[in-house]
Amino acid sequence: MKRSEFIRNLGLSGGTIMALYCMGTLTSCTTEEPSPSTTTPTTGTGSKVDFTIDLSLSANKALLTNGGFLYFDNIIVARSMSGTFIALSKVCTHQGTTVEYKAATDDIYCSNHGSRYDLTGKVIQSPAQMPLTQYKTSLVSSLQVRVYEG
Ligand code: FES
Repeated sequence: MKRSEFIRNLGLSGGTIMALYCMGTLTSCTTEEPSPSTTTPTTGTGSKVDFTIDLSLSANKALLTNGGFLYFDNIIVARSMSGTFIALSKVCTHQGTTVEYKAATDDIYCSNHGSRYDLTGKVIQSPAQMPLTQYKTSLVSSLQVRVYEG
């Protein structure tokens, strides 16, 4: 028996069938494959931050020198004047401007209204009131730095 004959035998009208279809009671017989994901995760599984920076790449060479910094998505990664890698949210908690690392003062600065943060993200000069989110860093090898949530 064809589907149309079966439905007709049930005594359902065209309008009833469409209502059932729209409500999801009936489903199409097509077998579509879900679209493959085109997103390449750069921050590990789930929404947790977890990525590794390859310092051998020319794009990352700023981090080979004390005082250098780079942005990775919404994170600023800097190599402090003492050679320690730090990773913080790059979004100023005052009004969202991108912050930068200042080698001269060894801190994080927002050029919009002058807020400053220490290397842990704590506010050391307002108008910002809330700290920057801090991420952990570790040297995986001499040329690889891992940035992750603890
Ligand atoms: S947006 Fe950064 S201090 Fe105002």
